[in-house]
Amino acid sequence: MSSIMEGCGKAMTEDSLILLKELAYVLKENSSRIISGWVDFYASYNINNLYQDYAEALDGVAKILNNYISYFDSGESDGFHKANKMLAENMAAKYISWEAMEQVFRAFEASCSNIFDDSKCTCDALDRIAEYQRIMNKTINEVFNIFLKAFLEVKDTDLVALAKMAEYHDSETSKHLIRTREYAALLAKELNKGEQFTKCIYKAGPLHDIGKIGISENILQKKGKLSKEEFEEVKKHTVIGGELISQAIRKQNKSKYYITALEIAMYHHEWFDGRGYPKGLTGNQIPISARIFAVADVYDALVSKRCYKEALPHDSAVEIIKSETGQHFDPEIIKVFLKVQDKFLMIKDQYSSDNM
Ligand SMILES: [Fe+2]
Ligand SMILES: [Fe+2]
Repeated sequence: MSSIMEGCGKAMTEDSLILLKELAYVLKENSSRIISGWVDFYASYNINNLYQDYAEALDGVAKILNNYISYFDSGESDGFHKANKMLAENMAAKYISWEAMEQVFRAFEASCSNIFDDSKCTCDALDRIAEYQRIMNKTINEVFNIFLKAFLEVKDTDLVALAKMAEYHDSETSKHLIRTREYAALLAKELNKGEQFTKCIYKAGPLHDIGKIGISENILQKKGKLSKEEFEEVKKHTVIGGELISQAIRKQNKSKYYITALEIAMYHHEWFDGRGYPKGLTGNQIPISARIFAVADVYDALVSKRCYKEALPHDSAVEIIKSETGQHFDPEIIKVFLKVQDKFLMIKDQYSSDNM
């Protein structure tokens, strides 16, 4: 069956239009259940700030649901996108935190899938239900992306909150964000880069992979090796991250902290010898913040377990990094890294998954 989401901005097939209308019908028929389930979900998670009271919550949720229904029903080719945009921008304008947003979508997803699960269906209908659920998941994904952009426009951006949003999408943990900022700040300090620079790298570091918000979860969470095309897709997270942070810079101030965030997001996968991405910069063309962050990021990746690999011991990670001096890494930074490697081990142990 062709995908409904292909309808975003493109011509939709007849199949998709029929399915969209069916979805509107299912949602309409069950709207009171969806709405009350959704509101109860808010209440159980005690999401402050979202709605003042139950009546307002009911009203708010009903509006959101009706938006989806009317767009689905009208069969407008970019109906999904419009409904998603409206929801995401509304949330952002209400200064809702990303944590609350996550709950909102989980609630929507849960209340919809309950209804689909409960329906008494034939095999054919089950296929359709699976398709509805897939649409819902894709919807949530798109809303997140729009929300992120809207959030940057209306809120004095909390960069760490944004980084967490990217992390939600990725399989890495917030401990990775904490450890890498600690390693990078340690290197900056030992390189005598000054207090302000060290502070900037510490604050901006967690945003290094913010651009992953724009990469498909299927690729990010794939177990096993990525295909060539998939890897090309992943590489784009540097440029997407750079664009997102430039938007924040344009809207707000050009503080050193934002500039450092931009440099790290854009260039943390460049190699000293020019074999990295996205631009293939060499040596000092790569901002020092990104050269430092590359060491922190790779060390943490090597000593951590990921969905596609086991963790290496500290000594093996140090050997690998040392062997790539002048290729992947800046020799001056590696000199300092080797001097303070025992502190890396201390940070790793202090912020290991079991200790937090
Ligand atoms: Fe990255
Ligand atoms: Fe990372």
